[in-house]
Amino acid sequence: MKPTRTFTSDRDLRDGVRTGCRAVAGLGGIVQLVGAGPGDPELLTMKAVRAIGMASVIVYDRLVSDEILALAPPHARLIDVGKTPGHHPVPQDEISQLLISLARGGGRIVRLKGGDPFMFGRGGEEAIALATAGIAFEVVPGITSAQGCAASLKVPLTHRDVATGVRFLTGHRRDGEALDFDWPGLSDSSTTLVVYMGLANIDEIASQLIAHGRDGETPVLAVASATRADEVQLSSTLSRIAGDVRRARMQAPVLFVIGEVAGLAAVMQRAITLAEVPDQHCEEREGSRVAVG
Ligand SMILES: C[S@@+](CC[C@H](N)C(=O)[O-])C[C@H]1O[C@@H](n2cnc3c(N)ncnc32)[C@H](O)[C@@H]1O
Repeated sequence: MKPTRTFTSDRDLRDGVRTGCRAVAGLGGIVQLVGAGPGDPELLTMKAVRAIGMASVIVYDRLVSDEILALAPPHARLIDVGKTPGHHPVPQDEISQLLISLARGGGRIVRLKGGDPFMFGRGGEEAIALATAGIAFEVVPGITSAQGCAASLKVPLTHRDVATGVRFLTGHRRDGEALDFDWPGLSDSSTTLVVYMGLANIDEIASQLIAHGRDGETPVLAVASATRADEVQLSSTLSRIAGDVRRARMQAPVLFVIGEVAGLAAVMQRAITLAEVPDQHCEEREGSRVAVG
């Protein structure tokens, strides 16, 4: 049986065939694992905005901002499964089971996660659970916080001649297990390190890197709540970062950028931001200011 909707694009056709055919066949709804980006709603993809706007249910995490949830349709049911560091109100297995049972009830279920769903977001576990249960799902990527932080700091993570690569690491191990990084590999000075969830262990991470040969003067940047109104940036070095973060009382979510590229922040901060450009050099376009000439 063919879906009866009129389709306007390939994407519509794909979405419609998935949801329409499955619903017609009595197979239930679809789950979309959607990346909400680092916080600023303007960093959502168009596909994410569309998914949120068409959702019947949204299952969301702690890092999803209120401004983004405000894009949900009025009839959508919002379910908070938010985790705070060290405290998981809804265990991961239960979240996966919830998605499965919601999907079996039909409709468009949006699983909304901070950043990108597949970057330290446990989206993989949810995708496997859905696939195993035979639930139709798709993944809508989001801007991961490393990219959001890099943009806020104006720091290119792989700046030519300074960094030949970048490694994304989790500074948190389950149930307080020791960090078992490849410390010698991480001490290569031409590799930028981006540490997610590292606030509690930054002392150990910095000490181990120095013990394995990374220079204590290596620049480090810490950013809390990047791209949000309450963003905080801190510039330090590997040997000082743990103490500086403690003194500054930085609060999660915090991301660390370690490496020579972090030293470029000082240069970049000298750049004038658009908000500082005098009015005569700006045009108003669609509500935003654009520097001209
Ligand atoms: C469970 S991980 C989820 C990462 C997410 N999937 C992503 O792609 O960014 C949570 C960690 O991401 C980092 N994080 C997420 N959003 C952030 C933000 N706006 N500013 C700074 N760090 C952020 C922090 O290190 C936080 O502890």
